[in-house]
Amino acid sequence: MKILAIETSCDETAAAVAQGRGNNLEIISNIVSSQIKIHKKYGGVVPEVAAREHVLNIIPVIDQALTTAGLNKKNAKHELSAIAVTAGPGLITSLMIGLETAKTLSYVWKLPIISVNHIEGHLYSNFIDRERTKFPAIILTVSGGHTQLVLMKNHLSYKTIGETRDDAAGEAFDKAAQLLGLGYPGGPLISKQAEKFKGKASIQLPRPMMDSKNYEFSFSGLKTALLYMVQKDKNYKKRIPEYAYAFQEAVVDVLVAKTIRAAKQYKAKTVMLAGGVAANKRLRERLSEEVKKLKLDFRMPEIKYTTDNAAMIASAGYFKFKAKKTTPWRKLKVDPNLEL
Ligand SMILES: Nc1ncnc2c1ncn2[C@@H]1O[C@H](COP(=O)(O)OP(=O)(O)OP(=O)(O)O)[C@@H](O)[C@H]1O
Ligand SMILES: [Mg+2]
Repeated sequence: MKILAIETSCDETAAAVAQGRGNNLEIISNIVSSQIKIHKKYGGVVPEVAAREHVLNIIPVIDQALTTAGLNKKNAKHELSAIAVTAGPGLITSLMIGLETAKTLSYVWKLPIISVNHIEGHLYSNFIDRERTKFPAIILTVSGGHTQLVLMKNHLSYKTIGETRDDAAGEAFDKAAQLLGLGYPGGPLISKQAEKFKGKASIQLPRPMMDSKNYEFSFSGLKTALLYMVQKDKNYKKRIPEYAYAFQEAVVDVLVAKTIRAAKQYKAKTVMLAGGVAANKRLRERLSEEVKKLKLDFRMPEIKYTTDNAAMIASAGYFKFKAKKTTPWRKLKVDPNLEL
């Protein structure tokens, strides 16, 4: 079966076409129109601006996803079996544009809709083009708005065992980059600076909640610790790579330690990494090394499926469609605070 997926929860207008067969999902087209350049000058996403851009981009992006997949507005309704769309969490006006477009297409093409949780989408970026998954799985989702450890005992079954009490990991990267004067979005910029640093860092930052028995996270204190250090250091501008390295190491240490402890406690057979921060090279290397030591399966999405995209929504949508979890368009609503 073929599925069209639409994602507009934040500042990426995205559409994808995927083909599902059994437990396998192949992505045929994956179009992402990013608004980063527009929001960069404000140092973060401006919701009203994001919504206006989605309005301009949504049809061209869907059209490109269909065309790349060899479809068009005439044959799509015969070739597609369903439309998957992100219903939340995210920015309400951004979500509405994707959802109302999906509803309209569903109405005109008479196709069922699958409502997908954006975080469920991030988790399912790990099920694109993959073989059978060994459950239970522990998944670390680290993105701009979320830092969560989720236990999946089977497909579409989620138990959040811990999350952040304050800043998300991606948000912490963004704020750290801002206070180091690097720009937005911060994750890739911190990572690039950190790679320049060779040697042993003399800067020591805390590892918040690393040894606590629960699976909660806290990153706001880490950012404040960095701020105090930078304020006291008159030469900090000459030591940006070292600060970036020390910050990245602190975040990665906490994320890896907690994920490995959860994998052991819940007797996971697979460990997965998801979300925008899953693009971080150091985190990918460190977590995969530690999971290998436990002789468990390790999965992480291809880089193009880490930050927001519609391929991951197609993936979650496909598994929900197989489980007959569709929603009539009349009942479909956005929920900016939708929980997993
Ligand atoms: N290489 C990297 N290292 C660290 N962080 C990164 C890297 N690449 C991207 N990020 C971070 O990932 C975040 C964006 O991820 P994503 O697009 O999943 O977030 P979001 O969709 O805004 O939030 P959410 O998914 O929680 O709703 C940003 O905070 C960005 O700085
Ligand atoms: Mg996201």
